[in-house]
Amino acid sequence: MGAIVFRHLTKSYRGTSAVDNLTAEIQPGRVTGFLGPNGAGKSTALRCLVALARPTKGRTRILGKRYQSLKDPMRKVGVVLDSRGFHPGLTAYQNLRILTTMGAIAASRIDEVLAEVELSDARNKRVKGFSLGMKQRLSLASALLGSPEVLVLDEPANGLDPAGIAWLRSFISGQRDNGVTVLVSSHQLAELETIVDDVIIINKGKLVASGPMAEVTGGERLEEAFLRLTAGDVV
Ligand SMILES: Nc1ncnc2c1ncn2[C@@H]1O[C@H](COP(=O)(O)OP(=O)(O)OP(=O)(O)O)[C@@H](O)[C@H]1O
Ligand SMILES: [Mg+2]
Repeated sequence: MGAIVFRHLTKSYRGTSAVDNLTAEIQPGRVTGFLGPNGAGKSTALRCLVALARPTKGRTRILGKRYQSLKDPMRKVGVVLDSRGFHPGLTAYQNLRILTTMGAIAASRIDEVLAEVELSDARNKRVKGFSLGMKQRLSLASALLGSPEVLVLDEPANGLDPAGIAWLRSFISGQRDNGVTVLVSSHQLAELETIVDDVIIINKGKLVASGPMAEVTGGERLEEAFLRLTAGDVV
């Protein structure tokens, strides 16, 4: 079984399906790009996966279990959703300290994860003074606190400049090289195509294609493959 499973997942809002009968599996130890244009249903599917939204139909599994049934979830799955809020008046360290307390994780992890995301210099700065890119790094740091086997990242490249995106690519590849399973969403197809092993492409809530990158694209640029796969649809 995959590290993450979506099985006939449907999420409707007032009769309209944001996610429509999505079935897909994420293989362990690989980076899977969860791709699709704005409004495709990526965030909705990920919110269902981590129990922030309730599926209308179907189910999701992480490491064989429902997210709600995971024992010690911070040590299993690190989650970065764009909605994650930090306390603006507290420092990076203080924000992470709240999370280590909640997750019963050693406080010594805080300086380790800040170093991993290259935010050690901002350790004692208040989050209200952070740039968007710094907040993204702090979100990644928070996801790493429990040294999870799986990372679920929703649009982590949002707001990053080219240097930040290059850094993110090497960060994600490094996690994979350490055996972490990464599911990462993006609406900008070109952003992650060089580091992604597998892709799941959705459009209007429905699966368009999934599988190893080379098989799905057939040697085309991902963007061209996407346009071919969704030909006839207004994207
Ligand atoms: N809480 C909600 N209430 C009503 N409609 C919603 C809700 N959340 C999402 N939707 C709708 O579901 C559809 C999918 O949205 P979703 O945010 O999942 O897309 P996305 O693929 O993450 O897009 P983006 O690339 O812009 O982040 C959209 O049409 C959106 O308007
Ligand atoms: Mg989204």
